[in-house]
Formats: sequence, structure tokens, C-alpha cells
Amino acid sequence: MCDPINVLVTGAAGQIAYSLLYGIAKGDVFGKDQPLVLKLLDITPMMGVLQGVVMELQDCALPLLKEVIATDKEEVAFKDLDVAILVGSMPRREGMERKDLLKANVKIFKSQGAALDKYAKKTVKVVVVGNPANTNCLTALLSAPSIPKENFTCLTRLDHNRAKAQIALRLKVTSDDVKNVIIWGNHSSTQYPDVSHAVVKLQGKEVCVSEAVKDDNWLKGDFISTVQQRGAAVIAARKLSSAMSAAKAICDHTRDLWSGTPEGEYVSMGVYSGGNSYGVPDGLLYSFPVTIQNKTWKIVEGLKIDDFSRGKMDATAKELQEEKDMASEFLSSE
Ligand code: NAI
Repeated sequence: MCDPINVLVTGAAGQIAYSLLYGIAKGDVFGKDQPLVLKLLDITPMMGVLQGVVMELQDCALPLLKEVIATDKEEVAFKDLDVAILVGSMPRREGMERKDLLKANVKIFKSQGAALDKYAKKTVKVVVVGNPANTNCLTALLSAPSIPKENFTCLTRLDHNRAKAQIALRLKVTSDDVKNVIIWGNHSSTQYPDVSHAVVKLQGKEVCVSEAVKDDNWLKGDFISTVQQRGAAVIAARKLSSAMSAAKAICDHTRDLWSGTPEGEYVSMGVYSGGNSYGVPDGLLYSFPVTIQNKTWKIVEGLKIDDFSRGKMDATAKELQEEKDMASEFLSSE
């Protein structure tokens, strides 16, 4: 057995964390031989609820879980971290403008970025989930100048999994038969779910998704809008936002960051754009197809982009640029 790693989950008293913590603590993410110390951060009024979560984690009697530390203090939560999964954020309340939501979250992620900078290991891997995930991730990254930008990623894996699942349902296969779908851009309704390069295993043979589906109208129409609107559809049905599927996607994302992607397969992740890939401007936190090796992601280059895709990729980049500009305004006035 190796030394335990320190893993933080913020928003730990919330509904995603409730589905997520068990998966992490039982070894689904960092492996069955990797012991861990779980740090749980939430806001002061949630400390009572959080104690209940701690009790349940203890009652799971999990061999890999060496210690659980529940706190409302950033200096305790962020100390010596190997991994930070930032789920907690300010939710959108009725009547709240997008701008107000962004402002409240800039404050949270600026503070948590600064805490990462000050207390975490410089090798820390940061996964941002709380919405608006891309811009919150960018805010944290810009507030932690001593940590490499590459260490920050945001979650678009839920959208990626939703896209795989829609194709699998349509072709009556299971999701593991579908690979190399791509989510481009923002984790919002402007995201572009793209299957132009995706393949599916049918009767033991790999074929292009477009050839297997044989319905371009659906692939360019209802398929895209179903994936883009899936979060809203879950809220409408469940009266609560996605939690089980979000937790599963966080496990998938973080496991791949930790252990790498399978040969020949890529996944979607929000990462810092250096300005050299697919015409996406420098300095945006944009979802790209990536492969991962040795805990380092690399954007998959050289995929052919047609005019249809170009338009959609630019539209979501434009929204991210607007969010970035708004966040910069708040960052400088804080
Ligand atoms: P929730 O409301 O059940 O839980 C959020 C928790 O965060 C609460 O316990 C709250 O007290 C805590 N929190 C608020 N401010 C905090 C702070 N400054 N520090 C630490 N904790 C804080 O929400 P849920 O359903 O767990 O969702 C969490 C976030 O994840 C939301 O922003 C949601 O929109 C986002 N989300 C993102 C997805 C993605 O694919 N990127 C998918 C699904 C949800």
C-alpha cells in the first residue's frame, strides 16, 4: 500500500457530493490500492448536515479511507492537497440574472484559487464542477499563479456521457460500444456535441457513427439539442438537477486524469486554450477532445472541421469570451 493522498470535495453537504463520495472512498477513482484522506468543505450553516455525511462515510467501513476531515475553513481544506474537486458553488436562484450568478461565483472561485495557491501541493489536480464550470475554473486558475495552468480542468464529461448514451440508445448498443464523441466549448446550452469523428462497434466491427445512424438530420438536429438540453430535462422531471450522473461523470473524469485514457480513445474536458488548437482563442477554458498519459492531458489535434462544426464551435467560444470578460471585470473590482 502506498501513502494516502489528500482529496478535497467542496460542496460536500450537497446532492452531487452525496453520490460522489462513496465512489471516491471505495477506490473507483484512484484505484483499489490507493488509500486516501478525504477533506470535505462546505459553508458554515451546512456543518450539521456535513456531520451526517461524515457519519455515513464512517459507517461504510471502507478500508481505503484513512481519515475524513469536515470543515468550513479554506486553510484546513486546501492544505497539502493532491486533488481538489470543486463542486460547491452559488446556485442560480429564481429571478437571478446570469451576471449576478457569475459575480457571486467569481468571489468563491477567486478565494478558492488563492487558497490552492497558498496551501495545496503545486502538483495538485483541480477539477471544477460548480457552474458556470468553465469560467469558475478559469477564475480559480488565474487566482493560483504558482500552480501550472494545465493542472486545472472543468467537467464536460457528463455532456460527453450523455452524447454517448444518446447514440447507444439510437443504435440499440451499450454506451461502451460508442467512443470518441466530442463536447466542444462551454458546459452550457451553447456546447457543441459532435459525433463526426465518433465510432461505434456493431457486430464486432468499428464503423463511423454517421454511417451507422444514417440520419444526418437527426445528428445535426435533435441529437444535438437533446444533449444540450438534457440538464434542463432532468430538472423538469426530477425537480432536482442531475446528481447521480454528475457524480459518475466526475469519477470518470478524475479517474482518467489520474490513470490515463485507453489507447485509441479520447474524452472531453474543459482545459486552458493556448490559442493553437482549432482556432479557439488563447486564454479560454474550452472543452476539447483530449488524451491523457502520465497525469498530463493533450488536445487531440488534426481532426477535420467542416463548416457546420466551425459555426457551432465559434458560437460557444463567443459565449465563453463574454463570460470571461464579465468575470475579469468582477475580478479586477474585487
Ligand atoms: P447542491 O446545492 O445540492 O450543493 C451545493 C453545495 O455547495 C451546498 O451544500 C452548498 O452549501 C455548498 N457551497 C456553496 N458555496 C460554497 C462554498 N463557497 N464553499 C464550499 N461549499 C459551498 O448542488 P449540487 O446539485 O450538488 O450541484 C453543485 C454544482 O454542480 C452546481 O453549481 C451545479 O450547477 C453544478 N453541476 C455541474 C455539472 C457539470 O457537468 N459541470 C453537472 C451538474 C451540476
